Amino acid sequence: MLKIILGLVVVIGLGGAVKGVLHLRTVAARNQQEMAPYAGEKVPYTASFGKTLVIYYSKTGHTQAVARQVARYTGGDLYEIQTQKPFSKVPWLALSLRRQLKSGQYPALKEPLPDVSAYDTVFVGAPVWWYTAATPLLSFLQQMDFKGKPVAFFSTQGSNYGTFFKDVRAQAQNARLLPGAAFNNLDASYDAAVENKIVTWLNGLQNAADKEVLVGEQFHHK
Ligand SMILES: Cc1cc2nc3c(=O)[nH]c(=O)nc-3n(C[C@H](O)[C@H](O)[C@H](O)COP(=O)(O)O)c2cc1C
Repeated sequence: MLKIILGLVVVIGLGGAVKGVLHLRTVAARNQQEMAPYAGEKVPYTASFGKTLVIYYSKTGHTQAVARQVARYTGGDLYEIQTQKPFSKVPWLALSLRRQLKSGQYPALKEPLPDVSAYDTVFVGAPVWWYTAATPLLSFLQQMDFKGKPVAFFSTQGSNYGTFFKDVRAQAQNARLLPGAAFNNLDASYDAAVENKIVTWLNGLQNAADKEVLVGEQFHHK
C-alpha cells in the first residue's frame, strides 16, 4: 500500500515538473516573439509630458527598474508606494497575499501620499499579484485622487497580467486614462529590447496624451 502511495506521489510530482518545464518553454517562446520588434537599433525618445510624476510599488525590484527608466526618459520625479509594515519573506507569503486580495484587506501605507496637483502627467506601476494588481497599489488607489490628470499604468509580471489593467483603471479616481504597458520579467539579454519597448510606449502615449482618452469613473464596472 505504502509503495502504491509513494508511486502515486512520484508520478504526480513528475507530472507537475514536466508541466512546469513546458510552461516555462511556452513563456520563453512567447517572450521571444513579443520582444522581437524591439530588438535592434535604439529607439529615439521623442515624447514630452511636461512635469511628470512616476509612482510605483515594487517588492523585488522589477517594477522599480521600469519606473526608473520611465523617470529617466521623462525627467520625472519618483514616488515609491511603501507599506507601513514590510511584508514577511516566508515562503507561504504568496498565499497570505492571495487571502488579502480576496478579502479586500489591503495593507496600510506610509504617508504622505503624493499630491499630483503640480504635475502634468502621472505614471503608476506595480507588480501583478494573483492576476491583478499588488495589494499596496490597490490600497493606494482607494485613497488617491488623480485630480483629472492624465495617468498611464504599467505592470511587471512573470508572464500573465490577468485583469491588472481592467482593475486599476476601474479604481483610478478622477484619472484621464492613457494606454498602459505590461513588462514580463526577462533576463538581462533583453535589457536593450525592454528599453526600446519602454520608449516606444512613451512615444506612442504622447499622441494619446494630446487627445482626451478615458475618464476613470467611466470604468466602474461592478
Ligand atoms: C504574491 C505574488 C503573486 C504573483 N502573481 C503573479 C501572476 O498572477 N502573474 C504573473 O505573471 N506573475 C505573478 N507574480 C510575479 C510578479 O508579478 C513579478 O515577479 C513582478 O515583476 C514582481 O515585481 P517587483 O519585483 O517589482 O516586486 C507574482 C508574484 C508574487 C510575489
